[in-house]
Amino acid sequence: MTKNQKLQAWVKEMAELCTPDQVRWCDGSQKEYDELAALMVKNGTFVRLNDSKRPNSYLCRSNPADVARSEDRTFVCTVNKEDAGPNNNWKDPAEMKQMLRGLFQGCMKGRTMYVIPFSMGPLGSEIAHIGVELSDSPYVVCNMRIMTRMGQAVLDQLGEGDFVPCLHTVGVPLQPGQKDVAWPCNVDNKYIVHFPEEHAIWSYGSGYGGNALLGKKCFALRIASFMARQEGWLAEHMLILGLTNPQGKKIYVAAAFPSACGKTNLAMLTPTIPGWKAECIGDDIAWMKFGADGQLYAINPEAGFFGVAPGTSMSSNPNAMKTLRANSIFTNVAQTPDGDVWWEEMSEELPEELLSWQGEAWTPGSGKKAAHPNARYTTPAAQCPVIDPAWEDPRGVPISAILFGGRRPSVVPLVFESFNWQNGTFLGSVQASETTAANMAAVGVVRRDPMAMLPFCGYNMGDYLAHWLSMPGRAANAKMPKIFYVNWFRKSATGKWLWPGFGENCRVLKWIFERVEGSAQAVETPIGFLPAPGAIDTTGLDVGAEDMRELLSVDVQGWLKEVPDIRKHYEQFGSHLPKALQDEVDALEQRLKKA
Ligand code: GTP
Ligand code: SPV
Ligand code: MN
Repeated sequence: MTKNQKLQAWVKEMAELCTPDQVRWCDGSQKEYDELAALMVKNGTFVRLNDSKRPNSYLCRSNPADVARSEDRTFVCTVNKEDAGPNNNWKDPAEMKQMLRGLFQGCMKGRTMYVIPFSMGPLGSEIAHIGVELSDSPYVVCNMRIMTRMGQAVLDQLGEGDFVPCLHTVGVPLQPGQKDVAWPCNVDNKYIVHFPEEHAIWSYGSGYGGNALLGKKCFALRIASFMARQEGWLAEHMLILGLTNPQGKKIYVAAAFPSACGKTNLAMLTPTIPGWKAECIGDDIAWMKFGADGQLYAINPEAGFFGVAPGTSMSSNPNAMKTLRANSIFTNVAQTPDGDVWWEEMSEELPEELLSWQGEAWTPGSGKKAAHPNARYTTPAAQCPVIDPAWEDPRGVPISAILFGGRRPSVVPLVFESFNWQNGTFLGSVQASETTAANMAAVGVVRRDPMAMLPFCGYNMGDYLAHWLSMPGRAANAKMPKIFYVNWFRKSATGKWLWPGFGENCRVLKWIFERVEGSAQAVETPIGFLPAPGAIDTTGLDVGAEDMRELLSVDVQGWLKEVPDIRKHYEQFGSHLPKALQDEVDALEQRLKKA
């Protein structure tokens, strides 16, 4: 329990508003988790998997209309509309609050309100922050226990301190005697709302992922990015990995790719070059602050992985497969007849029969996906066989390189290095990718997604870009990471991947490591420094010389075509766009025209 007055008063006020049948303070124990999981098995929300195949694990099928984040139902309500920017849906905070109070009135009737204290980041870390989520979903409680440090220990750490209040409901009050459904949600009435100025989150109607596990995108990115700007640090949609060369020298790298564009896979990669080692700090979010030595230190605020299941296999990501062998929750994957899970590409051989993610009989010829493309596993980071020894270091780890990237079938080379921090910020600000199933909207449309933060920046993106540019000035002896742009997703004229990706991405990481060290060769081009011929280690790699040349060349015409599109992208930010970035696009155009 807690003596925290603000917390007690808030829980009381919200219970009066939402009128749950009971309020339960979560202690974060295994006993509590097991009890809630058993309750969900009884309710039909969870299927317990075969313990001899996947110990202490559960399968969950969501409502088919609640399978991903809903960006069009996500709001950032700053007092001034302009502060939310063109990147966010906006409503006046007072009006929104009033509307939400109406919606939340009685919304937990017939349910339990769980009080979920959680820490984003190792308990007691100076970079960490505490939140408390109130939710009527036991699914949220179990997922939050894996994804965050959760329970009584957090209340002890909080003491009388401040926390981010996160209110969540599935939005389905129960009348007396009314039977619940397996996945309650309110499909036509979702609201994922942020009030950055008061650090508050209200989420209504969805039970899925980032809409409901409020520590993740809502707090650790939208609210935290707002805090970070005020306080001079960075809250980013980035994986963090440690990379050790055969001589034992180690650096840390962070990488921002949009949703379902390869962060988890890169974070846990198994290098194919002998002697190189990669270790994982985090797979989705990085909080970075300057250390006394002027370097940026990063923590992973999360404690688990909420990873994309389809495509994950012993060949593509063996470390993820080993992580999720036990103590995991699987949402919207398929179920095998022997009580285990399956998803597309998990095995080369297709199972003869399955229950699909919707619980229907499935056979290979059915023409339907067995798992939903945004099916996810929730699994403890501590179980990852390549978790970095420093992953819970409260000081964080020093970042030497930042990578941007996304799904670009053409134009963007496999890797190139920016000229400097400003030019690197420019590259991040124009990064683009094909959209994916991680959002409830069209898939495969190329959109510009600055720093992979378009759906997650809790304020005006023009101001966010200015914040990035200001970072070197925020520490007396700032030593900024080098910035690179990578693209694992180039396709040939016939639509095949030009680059094998996954473990082979270590070849690009090796070049990046050696650029940081100052030893790798590069050639200057209009877009930045590209690997010199032969500078990428291709020993034992099965990619033809012609394909390598295509992967590592500058498509001048293609880039020239990007320029007007970049200018159009910039126009939306109006006076909030830093002039330095306008200068960068002008300079890029000049260099391309001379090439
Ligand atoms: P979020 O959790 O949504 O933020 O996604 P993420 O960025 O962590 O993406 P993830 O690593 O889960 O990858 C998403 C999809 O991209 C999976 O289906 C992967 O199999 C695929 N993928 C990841 N890395 C590569 C790669 O190097 N090459 C190719 N071709 N596909 C990849
Ligand atoms: C993403 O969409 O980037 C995710 C999944 O990491 S969710 O938690 O649903 O946001
Ligand atoms: Mn993500």
